[in-house]
Amino acid sequence: MRILLTADPSAAGDLVAREIARAVDRDPATVLGVATGGSPEPVYRSLARAGVRLPHATAFALDEYVGLPPGHPESYRAVLQRLVQLPLGLAADRLHVPDGAAADPDAEAAAYDARIDEAGGVGLQLLGIGRNGHIAFNEPGSALDTPTRVVRLTEDTRRANARFFTGIDDVPERAITQGLGTIARARRLMLIATTEDKADAVRALVRGPVTSDLPASILRIHPDATVVLTPEAATGLSEEEFEAA
Ligand code: F6R
Repeated sequence: MRILLTADPSAAGDLVAREIARAVDRDPATVLGVATGGSPEPVYRSLARAGVRLPHATAFALDEYVGLPPGHPESYRAVLQRLVQLPLGLAADRLHVPDGAAADPDAEAAAYDARIDEAGGVGLQLLGIGRNGHIAFNEPGSALDTPTRVVRLTEDTRRANARFFTGIDDVPERAITQGLGTIARARRLMLIATTEDKADAVRALVRGPVTSDLPASILRIHPDATVVLTPEAATGLSEEEFEAA
């Protein structure tokens, strides 16, 4: 696992955006894994600023809330339409997001893994990290080989995401999330953390054991994983633990 230190969120976004642009240059039909939340926003802004277009690419979202009405502005489909599909020219039918309004969310989750496999698997997967070490919505305690499935969000995660809603009561209690086993099959993982509230989770990722108590620790056993940090997110790490980007 490589750990890179960048100056600020914008530099972190530029670094990851450059890797995505290279991947798309090499293979315009590349399959990207896209995250939502605040962490990847500088990446998407940087791609848009650089004029990167994804007309032949495919993107798979990490997760989606269960129970929001279709078209809800904070559904991850709507967020990814705003931040990725429209500004980067991704074809609408190649943005895949689990259907959180499906009549049978468990069947939808199983079908999602099959769709990823049919597309040839994810080439480059972008990730954020939760304050509790979750990735996608795999909360602490998730087995390291889980498939895409329906999960219950922890109180901490719902509190953290309340900023996107009018309050915590409006944050759904369940989500469909790519599993840790699903994420680990992506050929390359890039995790971005830019804020100090992630520093404890980042330190545990860098120094602690590989454990389902810290779902992000699957990056430690992945053959091609990179963690991109700002000084705030790297609080408490020492210089020899990372490379300057
Ligand atoms: C979003 C996702 C989550 C977030 C994590 C960090 O698709 O899967 O795991 O990456 O909750 O969220 P932010 O970036 O908003 O701090």
